[in-house]
Amino acid sequence: MSATTGRSDEVVAGAIFRDGRLLLAQRVGPPELAGLWELPGGKAEPGESAEAALRRELREELGVEVAGAQRVGAGVPLAGGRVLRAYRVELVSGEPRPLEHAALCWVDADELERIDLVPNDRVWLPELRARLRD
Ligand code: C5P
Repeated sequence: MSATTGRSDEVVAGAIFRDGRLLLAQRVGPPELAGLWELPGGKAEPGESAEAALRRELREELGVEVAGAQRVGAGVPLAGGRVLRAYRVELVSGEPRPLEHAALCWVDADELERIDLVPNDRVWLPELRARLRD
C-alpha cells in the first residue's frame, strides 16, 4: 500500500473518557497479548479515514456510536509497515459492551498506572494520565 492510496496502513485506537475515567478493553488474543488491556480499535480499511475507522471499529467491538478523532501522543510503528495511532473520541450513544474483548473497565489515573496494558499502548501513558488528572 503506498502512502497516496489512503490510510489502510493505519491501526486506530480509541480513547473514550467519561467522568474522569478512561475505557480499556481486555484482549482475548493472540496468546502473548491475551489478558492485557488496550484502547479498543483495529485496522483502517483502504481509503477509510481514521475517524470513520474508529466509528466502525468501536461500533463492532463495543456496540457504541462515537464521534471525532483527536490525536493522542505519538504513532507506534508496527510490524508489516503499519502505524498504530491513538485518538480521543466522544461517546455519542450506547453503553460499551465487550463484544470482542474478554472484559471492559473504566480506570482513573491511579488505576491506569497499575493495570497491565499491551506494550504498544504504554507509550501514550503520559498523555492519558494528564487528561485523567485535568
Ligand atoms: O486488534 P487488532 O489485532 O486488529 O490490532 C492490529 C494490531 O494492532 C495488533 O498487532 C495489535 O496488537 C495492535 N494494537 C495495539 N494496541 C491497540 C490496538 C491494536 O498494539 N490498542
